[in-house]
Amino acid sequence: METEVLLEQMCQAVREAGDLIRSCSFAGEMKAKAGSSNFVTKYDSMVQNFLIKKLTALVPDAAFIGEEDGYSEGKIAEGKTFIIDPIDGTTNFICGFPVCGICVGLAERGTAEIGVVYNPYREELFAARRGGGAFLNGKPLKLADHSLEEGVLCMDTAPYTPEIRKELFDNLLKLSHLCMDMRSIGSAALSICYVACGRSAAYLSPKLCVWDYAAASVILTEAGGIITDWDGKELGLATGVSVLTGTPKAHREAASML
Ligand code: IPD
Ligand code: CA
Ligand code: CA
Repeated sequence: METEVLLEQMCQAVREAGDLIRSCSFAGEMKAKAGSSNFVTKYDSMVQNFLIKKLTALVPDAAFIGEEDGYSEGKIAEGKTFIIDPIDGTTNFICGFPVCGICVGLAERGTAEIGVVYNPYREELFAARRGGGAFLNGKPLKLADHSLEEGVLCMDTAPYTPEIRKELFDNLLKLSHLCMDMRSIGSAALSICYVACGRSAAYLSPKLCVWDYAAASVILTEAGGIITDWDGKELGLATGVSVLTGTPKAHREAASML
């Protein structure tokens, strides 16, 4: 199947998954996962199952990596691998902050080729395929090369790994003097998309999993942004890695401080 057609069908599946999230007025029973403050709801599994079913119908021989229900142990296959975070921003979802992303990436031969990230509350759909450009609700994204002082810096707070917070907050303090202001929106994928659409100049996290950033990384790079680890190295669809994204200028500035 042509990647252009596949992207459109992935967008459709993700929009439909958004209905499941919007239909929820109360996240219901929460379960704690490994690590501190790490919760999962029945909606995380429900959305992931829904997407696996839809995506299997599109690409029957694809492999899956997903955050929930044992799919986190999945490996990037030689052929096509869908990488799913059904709700990026589960804490927001539980607390009623209307900010979360349904994320579906598609990797082929070890490289992320297609990315879709959807915030069902704002009905904002970010989508991209490698070489085909990035779009927000169908409108092309091309970021301006803002410096840190010309924009906001988004950050994560290492919610599940408090032991690395000291180093993170030391770095954030240094960066706080260089940027316009700082934000933590509680969704890594949307934070990366916010760089892609020019809402922020840069974003950093001390530790992400592949499902947090794979889909958004295609959107960002197609919009002209940069994504690496804190040492400036390619991420290579690894899990448990630091992530730094930005406009080319803001990425350079932030990298020199880490
Ligand atoms: C989390 C969010 C959060 C980030 C965490 C992620 P989840 O994803 O993206 O912003 O700080 O590192 O794990 O658990 O809500 O899917
Ligand atoms: Ca996530
Ligand atoms: Ca999640």
